[in-house]
Amino acid sequence: MRSFQFYNPTRLIFGKGQLQALQTEVPKYGKRILLVYGGGSIKRSGLYDQVISQLNEIGAEVTELAGVEPNPRLSTVHKGVELCRTHNIDLVLAVGGGSVLDCGKAIAVGAKYDGDMWAVVVREATPEGGLPLGTILTMAATGSEMNNGSVITNQDTQEKWAWFSEYSFPAFSILDPEYTYTVPLDQTVYGMVDMMSHVFEHYFHLDTNTPVQLGFCETILRTVIDTAPRLIKDPENYELRETILYCGTMALNDVLNMGLAGDWASHNIEHAVSAVYDIPHGGGLAILFPHWMKHNLDVDVDRFKRMAVNVFDINPIGKSDKQVAEEGIEALRTFWTSIGAPSRLADYDIDDSQIDVMADKAMRFGPFGFFKNLQREDVVQIYQAAL
Ligand code: NZQ
Ligand code: ZN
Repeated sequence: MRSFQFYNPTRLIFGKGQLQALQTEVPKYGKRILLVYGGGSIKRSGLYDQVISQLNEIGAEVTELAGVEPNPRLSTVHKGVELCRTHNIDLVLAVGGGSVLDCGKAIAVGAKYDGDMWAVVVREATPEGGLPLGTILTMAATGSEMNNGSVITNQDTQEKWAWFSEYSFPAFSILDPEYTYTVPLDQTVYGMVDMMSHVFEHYFHLDTNTPVQLGFCETILRTVIDTAPRLIKDPENYELRETILYCGTMALNDVLNMGLAGDWASHNIEHAVSAVYDIPHGGGLAILFPHWMKHNLDVDVDRFKRMAVNVFDINPIGKSDKQVAEEGIEALRTFWTSIGAPSRLADYDIDDSQIDVMADKAMRFGPFGFFKNLQREDVVQIYQAAL
């Protein structure tokens, strides 16, 4: 293992009926609330009314920012920062999926930063504070509810980057599996692909002596594989939604990250695609991750073989290590296809015309990936293989 520090200050409030925790959490931070949400799913599901009624009970003064886009935009962050300043906001409360939460993080930190938040996103500036952020998660996917990552898209430059800071952990996050019943089938699938991808990003590392971390990864992967086919047939099953919601949080709250450096190249490669084409993140990962795996199989055939055997139950007897490893990657593709995830860029009408543009964007900070450091030509090859 490599040396590490673990720090995670988020109070995770998980389970049925936990919305009432708003009444104890919100007053810790103040009365003036900026309520941030997306395109209307929380109004249709009734969650909006429940939140407002809880906030009314504690006498909160609520300002609203509605309409956060999937793949949240810098322009929306700017609007939120302005509202925080005008209304002297005490707490940002983000209610929605990962996009709403990520936007909430950028608003909370942007409100305490004098310049343009984009400078923080592209690592040209380091924030020195942030407003407190509370979240109510409505979709299992990103892990944003218990990490300090946020991914923001700049429409003007067509760039999408993740940023992280000491000040972007939610102070509290409320997760009630019942709020995820209404997530549409396609988004449910994208979310499960995303959380599995987060586990794979950790699983493929070069650090040695990480048996517990590998075992945690395999448990989460096997659980999602076991749960997903049942969940898509039974979307209002509490226990299945509960399991997937918990998997999403555990896949990216830095627990899997202890003592190792995960790869994260596939995320960079995908973010460049969704920056240009505005496709769902999980859909992009379903297409690209298996190609990243094939491209890097020889870096550590044993790790891929281990995935094949321990996660996908491939029988290794009588086969070469490489053959078993390849069967594992194929099994992943087959599984994702079986639950309805896309497998080719063409599924989103993406052809080869922007490959150079996307590769340039992905390379903005130079070669990347801790399991395999990718050069520009590697990135181009992965895009081409995924057409
Ligand atoms: O906008 P609304 O109307 O709320 O609808 C959303 C949106 O259309 C809908 N939805 C969410 N919960 C729902 C629901 N519809 C019905 N019922 C519910 N309960 O689902 C759609 C997608 O939502 P979005 O928030 O975009 O999805 P997701 O959670 O997958 O977030 C994706 C964003 O997170 C970033 C991605 O790049 C992308 O921008 N990521 C953030 C990470 C992080 N902060 O750690 C890590 C990830 O790797 C990822 O990059
Ligand atoms: Zn992701």
